[in-house]
Amino acid sequence: MSQAIKIMRATLDDLDDILMIENRSFSSPWSRDMFSQEFKEGSYAHVFIAKPLSGCSVKPLAENRLLGYICVSMLFDELHILNIAVDIPCRRLGVATALLHFTLDYAKENGVKSAFLEVRQSHTVTIGIYEKLGFVAIAWRKKYYSDNGEDAIVMLKKMSEV
Ligand SMILES: CC(C)(COP(=O)(O)OP(=O)(O)OC[C@H]1O[C@@H](n2cnc3c(N)ncnc32)[C@H](O)[C@@H]1OP(=O)(O)O)[C@@H](O)C(=O)NCCC(=O)NCCS
Repeated sequence: MSQAIKIMRATLDDLDDILMIENRSFSSPWSRDMFSQEFKEGSYAHVFIAKPLSGCSVKPLAENRLLGYICVSMLFDELHILNIAVDIPCRRLGVATALLHFTLDYAKENGVKSAFLEVRQSHTVTIGIYEKLGFVAIAWRKKYYSDNGEDAIVMLKKMSEV
């Protein structure tokens, strides 16, 4: 399916579409202000988006302006995956996997040695996606999420394994 998708850096013009997916995807979504910080000059954040390639005939993909996004921070030789979501009709088509591959390749090309993320322990689907890409659980943060007191699992991928 990745031949139906293009991945590029997001701009502030994409923010409305990103927020629409964010609000549909999370019970405690990031606010416009939180995303705006990531676009500020000097920020260590990178936001990449997936869009359908022109001429794409895969129905749910072709009908969406924005398929999904990933937000990461990159500082020295560390990558932190902060947020990833795919619009509901476009899920299970490999969009998140494509976004993650693109980001990990970009990070590796830019000298990143380790990629980290935190994930809710109830997000077993997402944990499975990360495991397929070589992430392993390295720590548990008790009651990390303030909205429901859920634990976070910290996962690490050594970039030599990309
Ligand atoms: C998690 C999320 C980003 C996955 O996006 P996606 O584009 O559907 O993921 P992919 O199509 O790349 O899925 C890769 C694999 O994950 C697994 N998977 C994905 N969604 C699944 C589901 N609902 N049930 C079971 N397995 C699933 C499958 O193994 C899938 O491969 P397959 O379709 O070949 O079997 C998307 O469901 C989402 O936006 N969820 C809400 C936001 C969220 O939870 N973000 C993560 C926060 S840490």
